[in-house]
Amino acid sequence: MEQDLQRAVPLMGTIRQLRPSDLPRFRAHLLRLDPESRRDRFNGVTDNTFVENYANRSFASGTTVIGYVEQNEVLGAAELHERAEETEPTAEIAFSVERHLQGRGIGARLFERLIMQARGLGYTQLRVTTHPQNAAMRALARRYNATLVFEDGETVGTIHLDPLMPLGLIASGAVPKRPLRFG
Ligand SMILES: CC(C)(COP(=O)(O)OP(=O)(O)OC[C@H]1O[C@@H](n2cnc3c(N)ncnc32)[C@H](O)[C@@H]1OP(=O)(O)O)[C@@H](O)C(=O)NCCC(=O)NCCS
Repeated sequence: MEQDLQRAVPLMGTIRQLRPSDLPRFRAHLLRLDPESRRDRFNGVTDNTFVENYANRSFASGTTVIGYVEQNEVLGAAELHERAEETEPTAEIAFSVERHLQGRGIGARLFERLIMQARGLGYTQLRVTTHPQNAAMRALARRYNATLVFEDGETVGTIHLDPLMPLGLIASGAVPKRPLRFG
């Protein structure tokens, strides 16, 4: 009943890239995640110190973070962490939406926006890691036809993006625009 009432209220927040000065708001968002969401997000049990250090490290290392921001509070986030050790331009992606806002389409909007950003940065491979029972993440990935593969009790999904086109080819119109390729 209370949940239905909450759902009737339109979402008043916006999706935007987080600025360096948003670090305390991003950290507070991760710390507010309920235990189950936190476990799903970090693929295991984590204490507050770990989460705080993780948020600080993310901002220090130039991770791209897109947020769902309402009244100057970050209530959802999508992260793009470079995996420089891979030969192909690869990033690890991760998502979090606070419990009271889950199931309202925010995760899907964050996902869409993150894919755009990843393409702009020239990544051709994205990885998402979670546990096999994470139904929401599986549904999100399915929406974008990402392939989820089980590895040692973890679910690793891979999304392939087409490489950026050389300017000359775009100008000549020689290369047709191709849709995103996943899986
Ligand atoms: C995963 C998560 C980010 C999704 O965000 P969200 O805002 O709830 O997602 P949406 O409302 O956009 O829903 C996306 C899809 O998931 C489905 N979904 C949402 N919550 C679900 C649940 N609890 N069980 C099953 N499916 C669920 C929706 O029906 C939708 O499916 P559709 O595309 O087939 O319609 C959010 O649930 C979350 O923060 N979970 C905890 C952290 C986590 O698991 N992160 C992912 C691993 S990094």
